[in-house]
Amino acid sequence: MSKASNSVGRIGSAWGWGWENLQFLRMRLAGLRSKEGELASLVAEIDAYRGLYEGQSERRFDDARIFEVGYGARPLRLIASISLGLDARGIDLDAPMLERSGAELLRILRRNGPLRFVKSSVRALVFDAHERRALIRVLARRGARLRLAPDRFLVGDIATAAIAPGSVDFFYSEDVFEHIPGAALDAVCAGMARALAPGGMAVISPSVYTGICGGHLVEWYPNSFARDGVRRSEPWEHLRRRRFVADCFLNEWRVRDYRALFEAHFDIVSVDNLKPGLGRQFLTPALRTELAAYDEDELLSEKWRFVLRKKA
Ligand SMILES: C[S@@+](CC[C@H](N)C(=O)[O-])C[C@H]1O[C@@H](n2cnc3c(N)ncnc32)[C@H](O)[C@@H]1O
Repeated sequence: MSKASNSVGRIGSAWGWGWENLQFLRMRLAGLRSKEGELASLVAEIDAYRGLYEGQSERRFDDARIFEVGYGARPLRLIASISLGLDARGIDLDAPMLERSGAELLRILRRNGPLRFVKSSVRALVFDAHERRALIRVLARRGARLRLAPDRFLVGDIATAAIAPGSVDFFYSEDVFEHIPGAALDAVCAGMARALAPGGMAVISPSVYTGICGGHLVEWYPNSFARDGVRRSEPWEHLRRRRFVADCFLNEWRVRDYRALFEAHFDIVSVDNLKPGLGRQFLTPALRTELAAYDEDELLSEKWRFVLRKKA
C-alpha cells in the first residue's frame, strides 16, 4: 500500500485530539444552516476555473481534461465538476465516501486507518445526507443532476502517481499542497508539469503557514473568527508559542517557498492573496513587532492562488 492518510493522527494526547475534533464538529454543525450557500460558492469556484482557463488558453473548458489534486474526504468540487458534465478526475491519499455503503466504509477503514474511519463515519451519520441534498438542489439550479462516477476518484499519492504525459489540460488543487512534505513537492510538480499538455495550466491554492489560519487549529479557521468563547491558543500561535498542533501534517511553507518551487516547473501567470487583510483585528502593534520577520500580507491571509502555465 502506498502512503497513508496525512489528515489525522498528529495530536499526541487524547484530550488534545478530543478538543480539536469537538471544535471541528461544532463548526460543521454551525455550517449546516448555510450549506446551500457554501455549495453554491464551490460551483462558482468551478466557474472561476473556467474563466481562468478560457482567458489564458482560448480553448473551451468543456473540452478540457481536468485533474484535481487532493479532492478530500468530502469530494464535493470533483462531484460537482463531474455532474456539470466536465471531463474531470482526481486523486487523494484517502479513499472517498461516495455511495455511503458498508463496503465503502470497510475500504475506508483499511485504506485510511481507524482515526480517519471514525471521522468519516461520524460525518456520514450527521452531515452527508443533508449535504448531498443541498448539492442536488444547487446542481438542479444549473440544470445538472448528481453524478458520482467512482472510477474517476483515484486513490494514491500525487508524488508517485503515474499520470500519462500530456494527458491533462487543467490541474486544480485547493488546501492540499501545505499538507505535502516539502521534500516531495519537487516530484509532485515535475509529475504535474509532465502530465500537462502543451498550453495546459494549473491553479494551485494552498493555505500558507504564515497566515492567521496557517496553523490549521480549528479555533483559527475563518468561520471561527466571529465566535465568542474560549480559545486555548493565541493569534498566530503557530509562529510564536507553538503549544498546540492541528490534527494534520503541515509543511510550514511560506509564499516565497511556493513561488520558488513553481518557478522551477511552470511559468507563473499570477500570485494572489485570496483574503487580503484577513485577521487584521488580531494584529495588535505589539504582535506586529513580535512578528516583524513576516510581511503583513503574509500574516493577513489564508489561501494564496498560484496560476501556472506549462513552460513553453
Ligand atoms: C484539507 S484537505 C482538502 C480537500 C479538498 N481539496 C477541499 O478543499 O475540501 C487535504 C487533502 O489532501 C489530501 N492529500 C494530502 N497529501 C496528498 C498527496 N500526497 N497525494 C494526494 N492527496 C493528498 C489529503 O488526503 C486530504 O484529503
